[in-house]
Amino acid sequence: MGKGFLMLVNSQNESANAPNQLEQLRQGIDACDRQLAALFSERMRLVLGIADYKLAHGLPIFDASREQRVLQAAAEAYGSEFPGEIEQFFRSMMRISRTMQSRLLFPFNIVLIGFMGTGKSTVGQILADHLGRRFVDLDVQLEKEQRTTIAEIFRTKGEAVFRQLEREMIAKFSGQGERVLSCGGGAVLRRGNVDLLRSHGCLVLLEADPETIYRRVSRSQDRPLLAQGVTPRSISELLAERAEAYNKAADIRIWTEGKAPAEVVDEIVRQLCQKAAAEQGSD
Ligand code: S3P
Repeated sequence: MGKGFLMLVNSQNESANAPNQLEQLRQGIDACDRQLAALFSERMRLVLGIADYKLAHGLPIFDASREQRVLQAAAEAYGSEFPGEIEQFFRSMMRISRTMQSRLLFPFNIVLIGFMGTGKSTVGQILADHLGRRFVDLDVQLEKEQRTTIAEIFRTKGEAVFRQLEREMIAKFSGQGERVLSCGGGAVLRRGNVDLLRSHGCLVLLEADPETIYRRVSRSQDRPLLAQGVTPRSISELLAERAEAYNKAADIRIWTEGKAPAEVVDEIVRQLCQKAAAEQGSD
């Protein structure tokens, strides 16, 4: 705590005018807040203008290097007295901008679908952060609510009970908010689930080679459908069985092979923007 702050507290204790002094300080804060709110609203209007312009000109909407430059400039100009706080303030402001832009551009859930091990959870978390929105992994949510693991539900109650619980999770989250949702690999095999998810969402299919999926899932114990003797061949067979349902459900398809999760995120945002621009053009 700064020395000035303590001095202020002491002098306030001693002074008979303490309530006046406090009132004055508060009035100073209120005046700052009014200016901040007016400037913040002005900033938001500019941010929306930029989103519109970029969409119309096919430019990437979210630009991490621009954010870095803004942070750098803020640190240089205003960072000497409160460096950590100024950085936090600017980071929050830019996250709010991303949330607002992403709401304007994609006013629906972004739903990641696809086979086990295609990166839905990892990519979903990064995508949500990138767009300043909440991430919900429906399998994780199901496990939290049931206070047990999916493997245990399969073992003790069977797949049919799991699918019913999965449907309930989808019904709970598909209609609300602008979130990033990640679905279990089998969720879109049921038409009813696809209809629910699509009612307020864009479905993004992540795809990968069976060998890559094998490498990612073969060591994990928590995927009951792949628990015993999984091979690239058995994965290929299950993928082939599911291919039609996945393709039918997908609004957007992303081939993830050879891409880092952040690159997959960029590709998703690029395709979502293309879709938004095309839909805006056709209005
Ligand atoms: C399943 C995939 C799993 C999980 C359950 C069933 C499937 O989710 O929902 O084990 O049928 O493909 P992940 O795709 O997240 O591993």
